[in-house]
Amino acid sequence: MRMNDPMTDLCAVLSAAVSAAFEAEGLDRKFGQVRRSDRPDLAPFQCNGAMAAAKAAGRPPRAVADAVAARVGWLNPEVAGPGFVNLRPDDELLRQRGQTIFDDPRAGAALAGDPKTVVIDYGGPNVAKPMHVGHLRSAIIGESLKRLRRLLGDRVIGDAHFGDWGFQMGLLIVALEDELDGLSEPRLSARLESLTLDDLSALYPVAAAQAKADEAFRDRARKATAALQGGDATCLRIWTRMKDVSMAALKREYAALSVDFDLWNGESDADPFIPEMIADLESKGILVDDGGARAIFVHDKIVPKKDGSEGPDIPPLLVVSSEGSAMYGTTDLATIVQRVRDYAPDLILYVVDQRQADHFEQVFRAADKAGYLNKSQMIHLGFGTMNGADGKPFKTRAGGVLRLADLIAEAKEKARARLRDAEIGASFSADEFEDVAHKVAIAAVKFADLQNFRGTSYVFDLDRFMSFEGKTGPYLLYQAVRIKSILRKADEAGFKAGALQITDQAERSLILALDGFEAAGIAARAESAPHFIAELAFGLAQAFSGFYQNCPILPEKDEAVRASRLALAQTTLRQLLMCLDVLGIEAPERM
Ligand code: ARG
Repeated sequence: MRMNDPMTDLCAVLSAAVSAAFEAEGLDRKFGQVRRSDRPDLAPFQCNGAMAAAKAAGRPPRAVADAVAARVGWLNPEVAGPGFVNLRPDDELLRQRGQTIFDDPRAGAALAGDPKTVVIDYGGPNVAKPMHVGHLRSAIIGESLKRLRRLLGDRVIGDAHFGDWGFQMGLLIVALEDELDGLSEPRLSARLESLTLDDLSALYPVAAAQAKADEAFRDRARKATAALQGGDATCLRIWTRMKDVSMAALKREYAALSVDFDLWNGESDADPFIPEMIADLESKGILVDDGGARAIFVHDKIVPKKDGSEGPDIPPLLVVSSEGSAMYGTTDLATIVQRVRDYAPDLILYVVDQRQADHFEQVFRAADKAGYLNKSQMIHLGFGTMNGADGKPFKTRAGGVLRLADLIAEAKEKARARLRDAEIGASFSADEFEDVAHKVAIAAVKFADLQNFRGTSYVFDLDRFMSFEGKTGPYLLYQAVRIKSILRKADEAGFKAGALQITDQAERSLILALDGFEAAGIAARAESAPHFIAELAFGLAQAFSGFYQNCPILPEKDEAVRASRLALAQTTLRQLLMCLDVLGIEAPERM
């Protein structure tokens, strides 16, 4: 009967068999869960349920383990310790599993049983402020989650949610006003015409510093923000130009990272939803006065505070400032209203720096309280920081925040040097060399990020990321390119892939690696954690490397063995490229 089961991954097949064995022993099926072994040197799979089952039934654990083992003799069980059941599928089962993955256009990737409509809010760069490494992590992780969910069958809408409607816009407007000694024509038009991103990047930090030191300046910036949001024509003109200049540069930077959004919306796109939302919040009685501003109280309880007074455990979400402007939280709340109307999402995922956790807690509670979405439908996927060697958030040598464009340029320079050192690409045209260097650079930066659980902070070390050995993006590219080259040569020789057969331990290990894709995808989706896919890809590349060393492909004389190995190589390449695609990494044709 086991031969005709629709195969899913081996854990599922083994779990079904072992669960049936527990049941036949008069025990609960749930104890039959099989998983990958902690000791793959002893056996690839294990079931640890016998101990708990024995306890529940008041029987000796060893006896339960032995009885279960006796019922699944075809899985080559071995009972160890107090009642662990180690399991080793035979070659026929492995061969079938490998064959199924080879025949599967999805190369073994699962389809989610519960497809969802998901908005992913990631990227989040700000108009006129250069993108920094926090935005880089958001882009890398968010893009990967979008691709992963699409692969598994979810409907996904990726939205950049540009910061284009807050106080920084007012700051920039008054800074420009001071630079021009007023906003009169024809000087304003001429200045707007010549405006570049560099001008904006220079203007912003100066204005931000001045706002800290100079209260009158800060007040003017607040008023300009309110005027812009109130539709003042001059403010809108300046804003439009600043936004266009920034947007063009941002689109270029994201394209270089292979990051793409379905919606290039900004905070300003939620603005039309604000008046109605405010009326709605007022009518529901949840918008209340808070020292001249209007806010939603979102606390659970009143707690004692440091200064001895008492206050809410979480501060209220500010919706209308005392100047009458929309705040960061206002646009986030209105964006939820907009997304619900446009997409009726089951879930909204926010891929934003962990340091904004409190902000999202306020917004989610407010949206729940207003009845826009259930709190469980909004998840803040916080991430850690990218640190320098000193363990502090990464800064440039000059002490400034690293700009994304500079980081990519530096990574490309390192990639070129690495390629030259490894004598790769000497025969390439200049264009191809540049293309390969770009792909190596992006693979290095992205894989270094995605191989860690997103919550973890990590140290930025381009030299290590760029190595062709070890757990790096370039190593994965190198393996993918090697398989491509083998397949090209096989094609030239007229060799064809054929039915799988198992002749060597390295083939078993490779099939076991391929078999892990399904579970990795499910775990990555459930936990919104692409590192499961990164881990799988690395394990697969290593398994292929072992296979390639031990199992000759092109030189193999036995035609059937060669055909089987070619099939394994093809399957590995397809799965590896799918993993890389989920990570947002592209492999060159050769290198
Ligand atoms: N622009 C924000 C920043 O740079 C990030 C936006 C995150 N997304 C959101 N819906 N608030 O900090």
